[in-house]
Amino acid sequence: MCHEGGCGACVVAVRAPLPPNNEVKLFSVNSCLVSVLSCHGWEVTTVEGIGNRTMGYHDIQARLARFNGTQCGYCTPGWIMNMYSLYESKNKNLSMKEIENSFASNICRCTGYRSIADAFKSFATDVDDRLKNKLIDLEDLDFVKPCGVNCKTNCQHKCDKKDSKHKSEEAEDWFVVDDASEIVIDCGSTKFYKVYNLNDVFKAMERNGEYRLIAGNTGQGVYHVSNYPPTVIDIFNVAVLKGHSMDVNLILGAGMPLTEMMELFLKISGENEDFSYLKQFYDHMDLVAHIPVRNIGTIGGNLFMKHTNNDFQSDLFLLFETVGATLTIAEAPIKKRTVSLPDFLKLDMNRKLIMNVMLPPLSRFCSIKTFKIMPRSQNAHAVVNAGFLFHFKQNSNILEKAFIVYGSISPKFIHAEKTEAMLAGKDPYTDETLQMVLKSLADELTAEEAPPEPSASYRKMLALALYYKAILSLCPDDRLNPKYRSGAEAIKRHTSKGNQVFDTDKSVWPLNQPVPKLEALQQCSGEATFANDLTTQPDEVFAAFVTADARPGSVISGFDANDALKLSGVIAFYSAKDIPGDNSFTPTNISLVTNNEEILCSQKVLFYGQPVGIIVAVREKIANKAAKMVKVLYSSESKDKPILTASDVLKSPQKDQRLVNNKTREPTETGKDVNCVIYGDITFESQYHYTMEPQTCVVKPTEDGMEVYSASQWLDLPNVAIAQCLKISANKVNVIVRRVGGAYGSKISRQCQIACAAALVSHLQGKTCRFVMSIEDNMRVVGKRVPTYCNFEIGVNKEGEIQYLKNRYYQDNGCSSNETISPITLNHFLSCYDTKRWYIEANSVATDTPSNTWCRAPASTEGVAMIEYMMERIAYNLGKDPLQVRMLNYAKGDNTIPELIDQLKKDANYDERVKEIKKFNDGNRWRKRALKVMPMTYEIFYLSPYNSVVSILHSDGSVILTHGGIEMGQGINTKVAQVCAYTLGIPLDKVSVKPSTSFTSPNNTVTGGSIGSECVAFATIKACEILMERLKPVKAKMNNPSWEQLVQQAFSENIDLQASYLNSFKDNLKPYDIYGIVALEVEVDILTGNQDVIRVDLLEDIGRSLSPEIDIGQIEGSFVMGLGYWTSEKLMYDIDTGKLLTDRTWTYKPPGIKDIPADFRVYFRRNSSNPYGVLQSKATGEPAFCLAVVVTHAIREAVRAARLDAGYPDQWVEIPNPCTVENIFTAVGHKLEHFKLK
Ligand SMILES: Cc1cc2nc3c(=O)[nH]c(=O)nc-3n(C[C@H](O)[C@H](O)[C@H](O)COP(=O)(O)OP(=O)(O)OC[C@H]3O[C@@H](n4cnc5c(N)ncnc54)[C@H](O)[C@@H]3O)c2cc1C
Ligand code: FES
Ligand code: FES
Repeated sequence: MCHEGGCGACVVAVRAPLPPNNEVKLFSVNSCLVSVLSCHGWEVTTVEGIGNRTMGYHDIQARLARFNGTQCGYCTPGWIMNMYSLYESKNKNLSMKEIENSFASNICRCTGYRSIADAFKSFATDVDDRLKNKLIDLEDLDFVKPCGVNCKTNCQHKCDKKDSKHKSEEAEDWFVVDDASEIVIDCGSTKFYKVYNLNDVFKAMERNGEYRLIAGNTGQGVYHVSNYPPTVIDIFNVAVLKGHSMDVNLILGAGMPLTEMMELFLKISGENEDFSYLKQFYDHMDLVAHIPVRNIGTIGGNLFMKHTNNDFQSDLFLLFETVGATLTIAEAPIKKRTVSLPDFLKLDMNRKLIMNVMLPPLSRFCSIKTFKIMPRSQNAHAVVNAGFLFHFKQNSNILEKAFIVYGSISPKFIHAEKTEAMLAGKDPYTDETLQMVLKSLADELTAEEAPPEPSASYRKMLALALYYKAILSLCPDDRLNPKYRSGAEAIKRHTSKGNQVFDTDKSVWPLNQPVPKLEALQQCSGEATFANDLTTQPDEVFAAFVTADARPGSVISGFDANDALKLSGVIAFYSAKDIPGDNSFTPTNISLVTNNEEILCSQKVLFYGQPVGIIVAVREKIANKAAKMVKVLYSSESKDKPILTASDVLKSPQKDQRLVNNKTREPTETGKDVNCVIYGDITFESQYHYTMEPQTCVVKPTEDGMEVYSASQWLDLPNVAIAQCLKISANKVNVIVRRVGGAYGSKISRQCQIACAAALVSHLQGKTCRFVMSIEDNMRVVGKRVPTYCNFEIGVNKEGEIQYLKNRYYQDNGCSSNETISPITLNHFLSCYDTKRWYIEANSVATDTPSNTWCRAPASTEGVAMIEYMMERIAYNLGKDPLQVRMLNYAKGDNTIPELIDQLKKDANYDERVKEIKKFNDGNRWRKRALKVMPMTYEIFYLSPYNSVVSILHSDGSVILTHGGIEMGQGINTKVAQVCAYTLGIPLDKVSVKPSTSFTSPNNTVTGGSIGSECVAFATIKACEILMERLKPVKAKMNNPSWEQLVQQAFSENIDLQASYLNSFKDNLKPYDIYGIVALEVEVDILTGNQDVIRVDLLEDIGRSLSPEIDIGQIEGSFVMGLGYWTSEKLMYDIDTGKLLTDRTWTYKPPGIKDIPADFRVYFRRNSSNPYGVLQSKATGEPAFCLAVVVTHAIREAVRAARLDAGYPDQWVEIPNPCTVENIFTAVGHKLEHFKLK
């Protein structure tokens, strides 16, 4: 998906003999980072290779399916292959902790990770009883048949027995030891050398002009390589660069992969006291990249990247320099020299090779500490990394010398040399020395701004705090106030666990039955297909957008595509004038769409990066490369700074043109007892959807039109838009969606731009066109969550009861007012409260950014977040318990919330834990905890129309179902199949759900707003009832027939065995409320800004669930996506041009597996039902997202406690959203004099 090692969707397993001794190893790699030419001698196994429908599934696949660890399934093959590689390479000997720690490489945006973690931890040798029992229960249920074939009894398949060990043994003989002679492959513009010895490396370097060495080739994940030079030399197998030796120093070959280096560090640190410091290096390296990168990424590659890009936050450079390591550099096979690391950075490395690194021994009079501070728990480069080494005089606390090394301060900064010199002869463990050092560091460190990296001021203060942290860690106990000790270490997460509490009513099974997803096994084996899985068609072409990389307001006059068209493989360039019909991907003759938005910008640029043209080429990479070569010509280039936020709009002279009031709600009464008036404003930023499947569309011409394989949440929109833009009739455009690899709203309207572009190319070329957006284009071009700015005034009485409330909020639509959400936000703002005294003004503004769009729980997230922030403010201002303030303001009468709060407080052991937290905070100056509880009422409303077509096959009574909803991970197919089976009274495995198409489900609306599953379920019930009605008279004539007999008889009587139903507003389904309560406890590392969600208890009223396991997955997934929104996911624009700076996995950080709550407990409301919902159920896809804002309140409370300890007055602490490490750290208000030992 990302093509840069950042998401894990592409992980595969490799078995290969590795130099120096050619031992055959099995390891995972990111296939996106490996050139196919580097695979010489490798056996590569993809997910299909370890198990499938024919040979039976691997236990890992079956177990992930059973544990419901897949939703959209796009990430799933990567998870499976990482687990498979790990499991096999460690001989199935893994602990739970090790397993959870090994998935830094893999992102899953749907599941919230808990189910995946549970599935994989069930393989651990120390698996706990909870998981063991769950596994037994799941296996007993026998939903997932590992063989994939329906043979409940007398199974002839040997799927479980044909395990991978057997497979590896089979494969063992397969390897032929290479004769290790150079291989040269001429690829046209590039000559590829695979070399095995030093002579050949130098010969290849000397023979040719420009060259590039590649070792693991993972560096391209950090610094993209779009142009390979004429010579590429693969040195991964050069034996002399591998292995290690020991004289006085430990000498590591520069070609040693980082995984091997870490294993060696662990071993040697335990054996040799002089190298015991390597255990610390091991722990640090555990935070570097992730396992698949470390498996092939080498020491030399990492150091060379630092050489070419001094600003690279290399952890290896930092670690090695902290201990004064040296490098051996070769200029020729026998001409070598030794250099220090700082000298290496100055060296001309042209035609030179890093041979090895020499790590010195350290005596027992040395102390060392290193840190890496990151924006999330794993797989992120350092915000700041630091290494401290103290050489003490023998048996004393007096320093002989000290090394202080920092990364991420500025490209040139390595050592704090002045401070190092000052420390010689000093005792570092006194308050006096500490203050002296901190002041010296403050003078010496000049951090440089490097957007989108965190600010220079934060990085500098963090660097100082890390020195203090190191001292806290190394200082003898008797010289340190014990309250400070817990500041010594960076936060480390315990292995996570989770609990899911729900009832199930067996009398209605398969309805309400906890079953895994219907497609889970296919997703786990790569058999489930997505839009881009359409097999390669003869003559197919690829498309990529040319974008206007100019300030908004610039006016396009033309294009110069000559250079791009000269590139071999480029076929055509198209611009707006090539569109035969309407240049709009949002035609307004369709519901929910109000404005036309151009497929290709024809004149005035609305935002930096707007698509203006399309390049067509024979390969995806060529298309992407050529697209950057098209010159866009402008008749005028705007000189104005773009307006990027709602606050900018309010300050701008263009305010009147850009601001629209969408709705105003007047109060019906005003209270008189105003004791306190609170004013405030708050901003919520945007969020990238981060679908694992990028925006994708493949359009294939057919004899009378085209098939559009679109990753779309909406069949109708591309059908209408494509027909109109190509001026063809809609019945020629069949939109087909088997499933979508994550959507969260981004594929409702935005997908249609890509679909129209691909259709245009296919139409003009008469060929299949494949359009898969790169992550950078995807992030820059496509709109995101609507940001919100609100200001408010609230008058309350002395208890906190609201007397009046005025909320004016402004939601940022981006460049078009399509998908204006502010009126819906108003409804959600009301939540569970008494609102008769509230005045609300819902506004929207236009900014110079891509048109913002629906993003999981749109409007509700913002509405709930605003009111809950206000409740916290009221409570704080009055010094009251926030829960009591809420209680005073609840809607009177029949309000379910108080009862649910009481229930959750009991379940979460709230009162006890509040006391424990107080005790913890009193005893710890630098770690603070807080526990917050928050309610939500979420009003659901229906969309329509959706159809469902149910067909019974006469031969065996099996049922085919198609519908107008879209399966995008939410489990719509499984729920609908359960409903169908229940209504027809047949077993679930009789029902099969087929792809959604615009020909079988024409005119259907978008799948979104959490409600798609229910609406389609409703249509399905109606269709099934029609069928049952038709079968009734047949059955009446028979004597208790089986389903199969009944169907056969009906068929013979010419009964129509297909029925469909289109639900619409005429069905008059009633909206209803969903209630949710959350209790969240967080721990904050005050000295870094890192935080850890220790425990979450989440209670949601979901009525009687249609499918409990699926609903659990929806709740967990949306809550974790919410945690990301409020903490680590930060978008940053260049304020001068409007260019998005955080457009990659390197710079944008959704939560990973170790960012989820360490203890995550989800409860369904007991004995619940829903008189209005379909079969008593309630929707679950989005509401839990709204509850995640509680993390901001908990973090603020923890920071407040730290500020009180620091001696600040008790003030409201404002932490800007998202609560990133930087924003948390900055809110603490650190001062050097706060850093003390005694
Ligand atoms: C997702 C991701 C996350 C990462 N996170 C971190 C991180 O947190 N911290 C960190 O420090 N690093 C990080 N890295 C960088 C990672 O450590 C490097 O990609 C890896 O070590 C490079 O090794 P390689 O063998 O793949 O280098 P290659 O990609 O093969 O080469 C990189 C460069 O080094 C040159 N080169 C390679 N070997 C030699 C040699 N022996 N002599 C001279 N030149 C040579 C090549 O010519 C090339 O220019 C991350 C990388 C990725 C993809
Ligand atoms: S890691 Fe390879 S595609 Fe993302
Ligand atoms: S299931 Fe993991 S991203 Fe969708």
